[in-house]
Amino acid sequence: MSNLTLVDRYDRNLNYLRVSITDRCNLKCLYCMPRELIPKLSHREILSYEEILRVVKVGAALGISKIRITGGEPLVRKGVYRFLSQLTRMEGLQDISLTTNAVLLKDNISKIRSVNIKRINVSLDTLNKAKFKHITGYDFFDQIWEGIHLARKMGFYPIKINVVPLKGINDDELVDIAGLSIKYPFHIRFIEYMPMGSSQISSDRHLLAPEIKERIHRLGKLIPVDRSLNDGPAERFKLESAQGEIGFIRPISQHFCSTCNRLRLTASGQLRPCLMSDDQEDLKSLLRQGCSDAEIAKGFLNAVRRKPSEHKLIDDDHARISSQMCAIGG
Ligand code: 5AD
Ligand code: SF4
Repeated sequence: MSNLTLVDRYDRNLNYLRVSITDRCNLKCLYCMPRELIPKLSHREILSYEEILRVVKVGAALGISKIRITGGEPLVRKGVYRFLSQLTRMEGLQDISLTTNAVLLKDNISKIRSVNIKRINVSLDTLNKAKFKHITGYDFFDQIWEGIHLARKMGFYPIKINVVPLKGINDDELVDIAGLSIKYPFHIRFIEYMPMGSSQISSDRHLLAPEIKERIHRLGKLIPVDRSLNDGPAERFKLESAQGEIGFIRPISQHFCSTCNRLRLTASGQLRPCLMSDDQEDLKSLLRQGCSDAEIAKGFLNAVRRKPSEHKLIDDDHARISSQMCAIGG
């Protein structure tokens, strides 16, 4: 197995696996979760922790070195801290991080630290309590804010704050949100909205990076930050004398497909070569048929072989991905 690698047809080395451990979430963000009830996956339909660990181990032997745990909201799944501690002890992985909406952060921050997770990304689209309720459906702003600051005081670094800017929803706050990077060592990351699943955000609400930059211009000059080897797709900047950074993730206005190094494992055990395509390799069926590690490795290689050169969301105004974001994990 060791002479096989995860380099695709376009010479991209896919060493980063994003793992969604649940499609469930304790929020219902406008741009992510459908407000109407869609059936959630049953316990049997999602991969067990043992199955996930097995897939990750095979991936690590093939060259996966970076893992991000996502959801839905990963911290709502029972047993998550034990799973994380097994994951962080696995050989071959260099970087393990967690994306959370931070609703459960305040009460569980010590557990997260004790399982040796040091890097977290938090989704937060507003600093206004009423608006938070409008966007997410729940009144959890205060506990999230407390959780983020507790994490900061406990030395988690960097804490990345993911923001999806939408016109008429949170665009009046972009300066305030970007300004957080001056006072705190937070990395604010503006993510362009991607039309996925049944989220209904009309195109007149979409806001692309050039306009976001324009709006936050009055905070000062955005000074480019040198990219490092393990960087993700964010275009990174710093405001003068800021402690933190501001980044732009531009899947629409300047897609980063040519440098994409990601594969995704969905909660239901599908290995996806591209977030914005519904193509997937069914690892769950393999696992449940009692497959060997070599067969899982073959599943990885099939997905790698099928990774498209780029996505098509830009060329087609009406293109959208039918899968729900909450089942893939962003
Ligand atoms: N478009 C862009 N970003 C999204 N996220 C969730 N749904 C969407 C979407 N449709 C973001 C959330 C989360 C990150 C993993 O993905 O902000 O933090
Ligand atoms: Fe939950 Fe994150 Fe989706 Fe919001 S964006 S509903 S927090 S999974």
